[in-house]
Amino acid sequence: MIRIAVFASGKGSNFENIARRFQKSRLVKIACLVCDQPEAGAIKIAERFSIKIRPVICTIFKTKLDEQTEQELADYLVSENIDLIVLAGYMRIVKSPLLRAFPGRILNIHPSLLPSFKGLNAVKQALDYGVKITGCTVHHVDEQIDHGKILSQKHTCISKHDTEKSLLKKIHRLEHIIYPQVIHEIAKTMKKEKIS
Ligand code: GRF
Repeated sequence: MIRIAVFASGKGSNFENIARRFQKSRLVKIACLVCDQPEAGAIKIAERFSIKIRPVICTIFKTKLDEQTEQELADYLVSENIDLIVLAGYMRIVKSPLLRAFPGRILNIHPSLLPSFKGLNAVKQALDYGVKITGCTVHHVDEQIDHGKILSQKHTCISKHDTEKSLLKKIHRLEHIIYPQVIHEIAKTMKKEKIS
């Protein structure tokens, strides 16, 4: 089994979709949810799917974990034999303790066609800019924000009637298609590597 830790800070629709998709999988196990927000919807989803929750508490910074907390988290995930980290609406920047412990094994999904519209409010950025096509991207995580190698993208057209809300809904639908696909493909490769 390829053991996955999902990181989420918010509603958790991607987490829920992934949990459902792999609930009966013989290849992938969603081994734990890492969550930095005690009120996040993702917590309830983990409870519903009986997925272990690993809370992280960091009040010093809003956009990253302090070095020690992130190192302890990395050590915990290693001790839990986690193979792959999947960021799904995790609102902190991943720093060197996790990047060192999981080199090339951290994925993220971003609601734009990278490299356009990095960072926060990507859907609003695309609308404000007036692009006619946007979408979502699954990519490897590296030390830069929304930057690592692109693994998959899916696009949608922006109509003149679209609002931020309607566009976000369209993009979420696409995210729910491509993220499990990429995870499945990577898990297949990881399994082969483990066997050989
Ligand atoms: C998604 O749009 C994802 O692209 C971004 O954060 C959002 C999380 O949404 N990184 P949800 O919590 O999975 O509904």
